Amino acid sequence: MTVLTRRNLLRATAATGLAGIGASIVGKLSGFAAAKPEPLILKTASIEAKLTDGAPTKNVLTYGEAGPPPVVRMKKGEPFAARLVNGIDDPTTIHWHGVRVPNKMDGVPFLIQPHVYQGDHFDYAFTPPDAGTFWYHPHCDTLIQTGHGLTGVIVVENPNDPKFDSEMVINLRDWRLGDDGQFIEQFRPRDAARSGTFGTVRTANWLNQPQYDAPAGGLVRLRAAITDVTRIYAFRVEGAEAVVIALDGNPVPQRFTPDALQLGPGQRLELAIRMPDEEGAIVSLRDVRGTKPKILATLRAVGKSLKRDMRDLGPLEVNPVAEVDVADAKHISLALSATAENLPSDGICGSLGYSFWAINKVPWSGDTPDPTAPLAELKLGKSYVIDMENLTPHLHPIHLHGMSFKVLSSSTRQVQPFVSDTYLIQPNEKVQLGLVADNPGDWLLHCHIIEHQKTGMTSYFRVV
Ligand code: C2O
Ligand code: CU
Repeated sequence: MTVLTRRNLLRATAATGLAGIGASIVGKLSGFAAAKPEPLILKTASIEAKLTDGAPTKNVLTYGEAGPPPVVRMKKGEPFAARLVNGIDDPTTIHWHGVRVPNKMDGVPFLIQPHVYQGDHFDYAFTPPDAGTFWYHPHCDTLIQTGHGLTGVIVVENPNDPKFDSEMVINLRDWRLGDDGQFIEQFRPRDAARSGTFGTVRTANWLNQPQYDAPAGGLVRLRAAITDVTRIYAFRVEGAEAVVIALDGNPVPQRFTPDALQLGPGQRLELAIRMPDEEGAIVSLRDVRGTKPKILATLRAVGKSLKRDMRDLGPLEVNPVAEVDVADAKHISLALSATAENLPSDGICGSLGYSFWAINKVPWSGDTPDPTAPLAELKLGKSYVIDMENLTPHLHPIHLHGMSFKVLSSSTRQVQPFVSDTYLIQPNEKVQLGLVADNPGDWLLHCHIIEHQKTGMTSYFRVV
């Protein structure tokens, strides 16, 4: 755990009324449509967990009392409430990655809300406008806290979705553990200056290659979130027909087979899989990137074939994201680069103490905006095109808080007009991302390789 030097700064206020709420992690809507939903309790805890064949790992962080953070379910267009209770020594917050929340609910300490200290709580309440797969994680001391386990998947349901026979939610992440199964240093500076420091143990739902049953001949909706701090995946499905139906919480304009589809930290993949007819047949979700391909998880066909057809699946409803007016849009240039400049940093909220990366030549190492002004000020309701260029030899999953963008064009490849919150930019690629600045407030924009984020590749937009 890192030492927080300015512990009493911005101390969260309300810390009362915590008795008896530690047990429940299941949210419950009250019986009245207009009534406020009862908050889901998300309490951080330090636990021991079995992540390898060896001894249990100590100092694993989760929400709840044991095992991985719960899958948080919300309903599109219906109020949601959660109370973050901090049961660990270090201050924390929750960011609802990809969910378009009001600025006050975005969970970025210093910029938006006070840190939540040990024993304190913070109440989040918002209505998710979009259906899809999202995820949640702290935005304080992010490398350690997410690296040690605080990453959970969010499913926002839509009653109008096509009917599947089964749903699978998969949280993909690694752990940096030594041979004794205990945490080793979370990053190495020389790797942070390259593609990042990789985990040593790879898991899906905190398990090594778990197997799940699914109805033979049935249609499975597989929701996978990459919540790892570093790793970029290339997805392939073997043993069944599979198509990508949504990416990053939004339906894809055109469904396609995932053939080494690259996605980075922060991104989400939704697949429709048609299970084989024969009982016992195995379908595997694989990462085929790099020299060590890995089977991430498998599905086993069970029962008599349901004889479903992929063509039975109607389209997913498009989310209500405002359409960018490209002709009228103002352009914002973003250049992602490496930097040699080494700024001193004050260490608040887990700054790593190095700067290797910059956006428009400015490295920003912590979560504190001071003394850096916003990258750009956007006018509420206006259209913008972000012209983003990657001047580095590495890939960067660039994430924007609070608003969704549409991928308009790329200098290196044919792109569908995806709607997303995280774009994995390739070396030497120039991409155009269009958006309507329809959510007022300060919104972070950063690389989701957390070591890059924390060593300069962060900034923010102000929408007023
Ligand atoms: Cu998933 Cu700024 O974060
Ligand atoms: Cu990066």
